Amino acid sequence: MSNTNPLLDVSGLTKHFPIKGGFPIRRTVGAVQAVDGLDFQVNEGESLGLVGESGCGKSTTGRLITRLLEPTAGTVRYRGQDITHASRRELAPVRSEIQMIFQDPYASLNPRQTVGKIISGPMEINDINPAGGREKRVRELLEIVGLNPEHYNRFPHEFSGGQRQRIGVARALALEPKLIVADEPVSALDVSIQAQVVNLLQKVQQELGIAFVFIAHDLAIVRHFSQRVAVMYLGRIVEIADREDLYGNPRHPYTRALLSAVPEATVDEDAPARERIRLVGDVPSPINPPTGCRFRTRCWKATEKCATEAPPLVQAEGNKPGHLTACHYPETADPIPAPRLAKNTEAAA
Ligand SMILES: Nc1ncnc2c1ncn2[C@@H]1O[C@H](COP(=O)(O)OP(=O)(O)O)[C@@H](O)[C@H]1O
Ligand code: SF4
Ligand SMILES: [Mg+2]
Repeated sequence: MSNTNPLLDVSGLTKHFPIKGGFPIRRTVGAVQAVDGLDFQVNEGESLGLVGESGCGKSTTGRLITRLLEPTAGTVRYRGQDITHASRRELAPVRSEIQMIFQDPYASLNPRQTVGKIISGPMEINDINPAGGREKRVRELLEIVGLNPEHYNRFPHEFSGGQRQRIGVARALALEPKLIVADEPVSALDVSIQAQVVNLLQKVQQELGIAFVFIAHDLAIVRHFSQRVAVMYLGRIVEIADREDLYGNPRHPYTRALLSAVPEATVDEDAPARERIRLVGDVPSPINPPTGCRFRTRCWKATEKCATEAPPLVQAEGNKPGHLTACHYPETADPIPAPRLAKNTEAAA
């Protein structure tokens, strides 16, 4: 839903990684168009799911928001303040309010530090001294994330994968953030413990009122977590909507394809055969993305117009306010007979 006063306001956000080549002078010979003109907002306390296949630019987006990466173009506003190119010093007060949880709980924790040290690290760096001391605060945080406060002096290798991700959550909470970017926080975990960690994040989001950008590669994980969902394809948002609208009335062909791959929770034998769209072919290279609509090389509806005109992200006819779709020929709500195969055309020139 659009809001005049969002917590995070991203506009035209772009990241092109230069490709260097040539000898003896190394020149820029091309660019990986990892993120190409994103517009979205996150409201205070809200959770936005960011979904798309591997390589579509999700992590880059997360790193741009948290300013671990410098944008090529566009703006990032946090609480009205333009932080797009803010210096380290200018960023300092904001840095503590925006935290990141990473995909790999093994790689993101220093193996030589105790849990107490890891979680109190951000407080030390930012010179934050909570009432009762840092150790007391760390023990509280351990309790919040469902770990034993007595394990304060243990090292990361003494914990399971799920527990390590809980340590990552505790560390992110140490500075009482207003926004957490969680980059595939459960993708590296056993399926059996993914739900537990998602539940923990949901509890944190609801009880502490923290806004989330929850990054995932499929729509199943974010379904119950996100109030709104944005679907990305090859560096662009192709559809964004409230959860009910996105799952109930997907208008972009790619969203439909992704949804058709989500397993049903229950099997109802009387239910009509469910639409299955199998996408054929690989995602094209972001170095040389297709002209016009970037999804056109895998879209079964592509026309000449799709090759020449990039579809803008707009409220398509029949969409509720805030439900935006980037497609010249949005899907209708009519059920489509199963199965349906996407055509596999040549990669774009
Ligand atoms: N530092 C980098 N230098 C060059 N290319 C990069 C860099 N980081 C990411 N990319 C490329 O940008 C694209 C998007 O990557 P990424 O944001 O990691 O996608 P995702 O998280 O959705 O899998 C990929 O093609 C990736 O190879
Ligand atoms: S704009 Fe064209 S190619 Fe792109 S999704 Fe819509 S119908 Fe398919
Ligand atoms: Mg990623």
